Amino acid sequence: MKKFITAVLIIYASILFAQQKTIEQRVDSVLTLMTLDEKIGQLNQYSGGWETGVRTDNSVRDREELVRTGKVGSFLNVIGADLTRKIQKIAVEQSRLKIPIIFGLDVIHGFRSTFPVPIAEASSWNPKLVETSTRWQATEAASAGVHWTFAPMVDIARDPRWGRIVEGSGEDPYLGSIMAAAAVKGFQGNDLSANNTIAACAKHFAGYGAAEGGRDYNTADFSERTFHEIYLRPFKAAVDAGVATLMCSFNEIGGVPSSANYELLTKILRDDWKFKGFVVSDWNSIGELIPHGVAKDLKQAAELGIKAGVDMDMESNAYIRNLKTLVEEKKVSVQNIDESVRRILRVKFELGLFDDPYKYCDEKREKETEFSKEIVEATRKVARESIVLLKNEKNILPLSKEIKSVAVIGPLANSHEDPLGPWSGVSDSTHVVTVLDGVKSKLGAAANILYSQGCTITGTSEDGFKSAVESAQKADAVILCLGESLNMSGEASARASLDLPGVQEKLAEEIFKTGKPVVVVLMNGRPLTINWISENIPAVVETWFLGIQSGNAIADVLFGDYNPNGKLPVTFPRSVGQVPIYYNHKNTGRPYNPKDHYTSYYQDLQNTPLYPFGYGLSYSKFEYSNLSLSSSKIKNGEPLKVKVDVKNVSSREGEEVVQLYVQDLVGSVTRPVKELKDFSKVDLKPGETKTVEFTITPDKLKFYDINMNFTVEPGDFKVFVGTNSVDLLESTFSID
Ligand code: NOJ
Repeated sequence: MKKFITAVLIIYASILFAQQKTIEQRVDSVLTLMTLDEKIGQLNQYSGGWETGVRTDNSVRDREELVRTGKVGSFLNVIGADLTRKIQKIAVEQSRLKIPIIFGLDVIHGFRSTFPVPIAEASSWNPKLVETSTRWQATEAASAGVHWTFAPMVDIARDPRWGRIVEGSGEDPYLGSIMAAAAVKGFQGNDLSANNTIAACAKHFAGYGAAEGGRDYNTADFSERTFHEIYLRPFKAAVDAGVATLMCSFNEIGGVPSSANYELLTKILRDDWKFKGFVVSDWNSIGELIPHGVAKDLKQAAELGIKAGVDMDMESNAYIRNLKTLVEEKKVSVQNIDESVRRILRVKFELGLFDDPYKYCDEKREKETEFSKEIVEATRKVARESIVLLKNEKNILPLSKEIKSVAVIGPLANSHEDPLGPWSGVSDSTHVVTVLDGVKSKLGAAANILYSQGCTITGTSEDGFKSAVESAQKADAVILCLGESLNMSGEASARASLDLPGVQEKLAEEIFKTGKPVVVVLMNGRPLTINWISENIPAVVETWFLGIQSGNAIADVLFGDYNPNGKLPVTFPRSVGQVPIYYNHKNTGRPYNPKDHYTSYYQDLQNTPLYPFGYGLSYSKFEYSNLSLSSSKIKNGEPLKVKVDVKNVSSREGEEVVQLYVQDLVGSVTRPVKELKDFSKVDLKPGETKTVEFTITPDKLKFYDINMNFTVEPGDFKVFVGTNSVDLLESTFSID
């Protein structure tokens, strides 16, 4: 009996000990059991479903056999509680070491229930909203076996030709950093092991958005200073927010492709930023070191990738086929491989997969969660706040709900596919509320709603114009829905023109001629050059791609149930010839002066954008006054308080995004004409005034000086506060 009690106590103690072991100890204890082959298997990721990249291997893969024999550590594009459970069961019951698989997926703006595209959500200037959105996206995906999303995409983009501008938060590193941190928080929650949180992946590390000419996958080249100040900042913010993984980018910078960039993936990311998670390659990006011209074959590509710091190989087959030989030839050390395995196992432990490999595969929860009432409601809420009102002449918006007849016209008016945007592969377009649906449900049977497509998005036929014009003539107002199709932006979807495609502008001209009040509703994945529309059409609303509740959210705004307050996170050019055009540009030695020929300008176009960064209207009107600083002179290291009064001078309650910019007037290196340093969204009742206060902390004034030290330089500064990056009050201060 005594023996029995002792045995029970020992078992109990060892269980307790196992539970009390830190993740590091548990990772190490798994690592010591692993053969080299098993380690290399952990570094290998395949698509187990559809392709989200170039075809890399023609052999038919036996998914189950790969898992059974420990040749794969992760799958992407495998979803569903049922299927993931089936595969996980093989991993934890039939593979030698029972290491669970991590399932990844591009949950970029929703899983089944599509939310607005990221550029739209960034237009809310509301990080809490982005957190709510990504929280829901994680909840829905996690119930269907997904452990890990390849999001947020935090690439800064200053070139709207680049189709992937739709996936990020626009052109500004401060706004981009705030949104990056919010999305990481939303996806990962406070506890990665909870069954409704998933690991996030900040991508594409780095500089991918600076593709020359806006052509996807193209070379990026910029100064080290610009790299740190503009492109790396949102990644740093994601790392500081605890992001579990990063994905390296396809592009090269200064001759070094990211998948072979030791300086970036090890020195900056691990040594300087202390990142503890793992780095996954982009799809075949290790294999692409060959066409890049830095590796002669896949073996050399594998060597470059693992040594640079790419832990997991997505779809190149580089590691699985070559790492063992590279170790045998002593070109790659086992310690190097161990370090990568350790990072991957750590995330698997953090997700709780070793404790319960099936915790994300719950058919009941999956059914209850997908397209649930709460998620659908959330998509509508997020969508409304993502809308930007660009023009509202004579307050033609909001339209009256008592209106007798409305014509809903245009190729996007009743499209079920396009409002989903480019990353909506696992959504379901039957859940999409189109603008036509939204207007119908807003107005009910009392109004006569006429629909006419007018033309297709890209086609050249004007055959539909006649019936569209007739519909307009019969109506009291026209809602004209124009823009791009969902596949005109996103990956590999660059455009050389930023105009409305096809004959859409011509359609707008014909509808305009009817003399009816016209509202243009834009749906698009990038800033468009909409000069004619913006000059002639009295009301213009930018809606990007808003997801499944598009039509309801748009109708809420058009008929005044929601007062728009979005602001552009990216500049709208007048012409593609102005690109790159962004608000935080340098002054140059010859800023434009109309009286002097030898200054920086175009002979055939203004320098200014069509709509500046930070721009967006509301049905309310706001007035700014009394900009004041806590001091006009501070000591280096001291904070400065900035106050401004914002008054709602209209009869409608509304929200305003108050923006703070700073210019460092003289530096050891040139500084931008202004930089966003803070913002705050305030709600104001009619007639109400609020004093908005910002604190400029010393950190906010730091930049990379002539010696690349990140520091504040004493001197004179300008402070600007206002409603967008152009219409601003200003003041000055200096630092001793
Ligand atoms: C390639 C894309 O660049 C990346 O963003 C995505 O996550 C992967 N394909 C996986 O689908």
